[in-house]
Amino acid sequence: MQLPQSRELAAELIWRDEVASTNDALRELVAEHPELPSRTVLVTDNQTAGRGRLGREWVAPAGGALAISVLLREPAASRAPTWLPLLAGSAVRRALSPFISEEHRLGVKWPNDVLAFDEAHVGLKLSGILSEMLADGSIIIGIGINTALSAAELPAETATSLALLREGEPPEPDDILAAVLRQLFTLLDSLAEGEMDALRELVASDSSTLGTHVRAHLPNGVIIEGEALRLSDDGALVIAGDADGAEVLVAAGDIEHLR
Ligand code: BTN
Repeated sequence: MQLPQSRELAAELIWRDEVASTNDALRELVAEHPELPSRTVLVTDNQTAGRGRLGREWVAPAGGALAISVLLREPAASRAPTWLPLLAGSAVRRALSPFISEEHRLGVKWPNDVLAFDEAHVGLKLSGILSEMLADGSIIIGIGINTALSAAELPAETATSLALLREGEPPEPDDILAAVLRQLFTLLDSLAEGEMDALRELVASDSSTLGTHVRAHLPNGVIIEGEALRLSDDGALVIAGDADGAEVLVAAGDIEHLR
């Protein structure tokens, strides 16, 4: 696929007709070509063994989703690794919002699931992000976006796709990818400019988690319930504690929105 707009934005753009996992393929490319520049992008619409957060799978039939991996090896990104997954979630929310019809609204469930909400306030997952650090400190941001999936093809009842959130044809892959890269690179440029306070506010304003009552499932099996108050200086979710009023910081885990 040619992807001319995206090629203008990426330092290098690599299209693969089929790949097991774009994050793994980009990691292998970096090992073979250590000189690959920051903002190299590897993308496919046929990922056969996609990986999700917390050891899960990311599944999509051929042609139904875009799998995008972006290599970051720039000082500002390396200094703020815990913020990158959150910035990516905001970038994707902002990039995809113009592609959906007005009755839907996108929000980011902490840390970075992009969900579509309608009047019933049901959040359906449109995009998931897996951020990984390489041994040399480079970071790969992996973004999966359900683009053309029909209702029958959705991997779960809690998922949705761009095609299902708008009238007419699904958007062109190059339009989607270029919009995501534009937003992501703009936020990374702000990070390099030291605009951390503004970025923190931007991430908070894109969040559908802050201010709601949540149940946090931590990777060690512990469950915490309470109001999601704010983001910590590292981007962790601060949850109001139980009876004693103590606050709990959640750095990794799955969030359930309760109300
Ligand atoms: C999640 O929701 O758990 C994260 C899903 C991340 C999927 C993307 S698709 C591109 C990149 N390559 C992968 O193998 N995973 C990420």
